[in-house]
Amino acid sequence: MSVTVALSKGKLLAGALSLFQRAGLPFPEGEGRRLHMEIDGFRFLFLKDPDVPTYVEHGVADCGVAGRDVLLESEAEVYEPLDLGFGHCRLVVASLAGRTSLAGASTLRVATKYPRIARAHFLEKGVSAEIVGLAGSVEIAPGLGLADCIVDVVETGRTLEENGLEVVEQVAASSARFIVNRASYHSRRQDVFPLIEALRKAAQ
Ligand code: PRP
Repeated sequence: MSVTVALSKGKLLAGALSLFQRAGLPFPEGEGRRLHMEIDGFRFLFLKDPDVPTYVEHGVADCGVAGRDVLLESEAEVYEPLDLGFGHCRLVVASLAGRTSLAGASTLRVATKYPRIARAHFLEKGVSAEIVGLAGSVEIAPGLGLADCIVDVVETGRTLEENGLEVVEQVAASSARFIVNRASYHSRRQDVFPLIEALRKAAQ
């Protein structure tokens, strides 16, 4: 039976494929719209970022590659044996440049793709936050008056800069993680452990 690997179609895909290649493992090549592919004993699924932990948690995929940001948000019950050493980014609070002090507001409106993380962050700080859930392009929300600030990932900082935002504070650091379904980790250890070892060596 093939090992099913859930990959994100987003920014982590190139790094994941290059890591599989360096590890001497089969990896899918080429552009296309096929959302799953079988290659040499592996089945690859190409998913939206937040769906990778879901497929792995439910055992449809044995394992996968997901950002720590997405894992923190999903709270999926999966094993996370490896930091893959790519996809480094930061989860931050950002607001309009020049307004980086958010102190004084009784309730902040926070636009984000990460509602759980944002809620927990402001709760811990004792700040009352109204979360406005968005699916993307979060950086335009403060300028349009939808929110006082955002919680989002920053990689190069370009999207923040081009939309007139500045970092207020860091919430968490993130990078790509290899995740494994809890049952597969035990029942398919003869397949999963060599895969973890190959990726560990290639990630060094
Ligand atoms: C992510 C993130 C930021 C951007 C950060 O968005 O939500 O918008 O990348 O990258 P940067 O610091 O290098 O500019 P993504 O490209 O996934 O698109 P989305 O806004 O549609 O979710």
